[in-house]
Amino acid sequence: MNITTVADGITRITANVENILFEGFWELPDGVSLNSYVVKGEKTAIIDGMININDIEKAFINALDKVNIKLEDVDYLIVNHMEPDHSGWFESMARLNPDVTILCSQKSADLLDAFFGWTENVSVVSDGDSVDLGAGRVLTFHEIPNVHWPDTMATFDTLSGTLFSCDAFGSYGKVSDKGYDDLLSEDELAHYESEAERYYANIIAAFSLFMNKALDKIAKLPVKIIAPGHGIVWRKDPARVISDYTRYASYQKGPCMPEVTLLWGSMYGMTKKGVDHIIDAFCDTECNLHVHNVIDDSISKILASVWRSTGVILAMPTYEYKMFPPMASVLEEVCRKKAQNRIAFRIGSYGWSGGANSDLEEIMQRNRANWEFLPPVEYNGSPSEEELALMTARTQELIKRVKEAAE
Ligand code: FEO
Repeated sequence: MNITTVADGITRITANVENILFEGFWELPDGVSLNSYVVKGEKTAIIDGMININDIEKAFINALDKVNIKLEDVDYLIVNHMEPDHSGWFESMARLNPDVTILCSQKSADLLDAFFGWTENVSVVSDGDSVDLGAGRVLTFHEIPNVHWPDTMATFDTLSGTLFSCDAFGSYGKVSDKGYDDLLSEDELAHYESEAERYYANIIAAFSLFMNKALDKIAKLPVKIIAPGHGIVWRKDPARVISDYTRYASYQKGPCMPEVTLLWGSMYGMTKKGVDHIIDAFCDTECNLHVHNVIDDSISKILASVWRSTGVILAMPTYEYKMFPPMASVLEEVCRKKAQNRIAFRIGSYGWSGGANSDLEEIMQRNRANWEFLPPVEYNGSPSEEELALMTARTQELIKRVKEAAE
């Protein structure tokens, strides 16, 4: 456990988790932090919990000990969001301290019952409600539904101006004692921002409409510090992470960055000939290109690249009259996140029959993705010189359109 002071009377207790897949399938090359916050007035509250793995109950109690808090001293457990990465330990905490009051939204209360069969000592709070911890410290509650589950709320400490924002403004990446924006170098901050973008693309992206509503609501609070459930605390420049998240949310409908993502898969190297040609066509264009093979690269990284890119090139062959299946699977996930309004084109090889393109159209239409496609370059077997020249022309047209849209 990593224990640090956020502000007077507020302690962050963090469990850094590695060697797991977040939500069971998102890769974590640099781990993820699960942040709990102990807030003290005359009474004591713990905001957000952490996943119940690796004997975390014992470790968390030891951590409380180190900041001179006994379990029986804790008056409130505030469950901002019931997803078990924020509430996994709450059951043991509530069992060990039967006098504790659990504060949460009605939807969280329903989920606590559904997931843990827990209904005791639950006190439901609504948007705008507050609890007075004494010593001038009042916590107010602000529902931010669907950031990330329907139950989610943020908690605001009126004394310090700290917003405990739960999944909002979070990132992947473990944290240390330096896990504060005022203690990190610009390079280190850039790393967390990159991991925040990937986290957003994986976890929040599909709920961008609700993220925008949450941003509007949070703008009305006098926020001085942002303390999320994952990642670093922003106390020098909270406006920076608010600006980042505003930008990430805007990427859903685009335009995004003036960049292009090339997703490709190839069975016997025929489609890859076109891929190599397109990559060459990007030389000297000053347009940033992200290249992902849909077999080798993780869906987590692919989504992050597509999320920030105004342009997308898809390269895949026809397989049994339809699209190369791994590409179809990736595109379904891209559409599930509602990455809309991209400028795109497709290339690909076929043997005795095409079919990938009609499959692609079906996926895009069914998901109302509203991507604008330049005409495809589809070829029988290996691409001819004319077809390669056509790919160059399409690539140049795409880059021109992307720059016009995004700049
Ligand atoms: Fe960090 Fe939606 O859980």
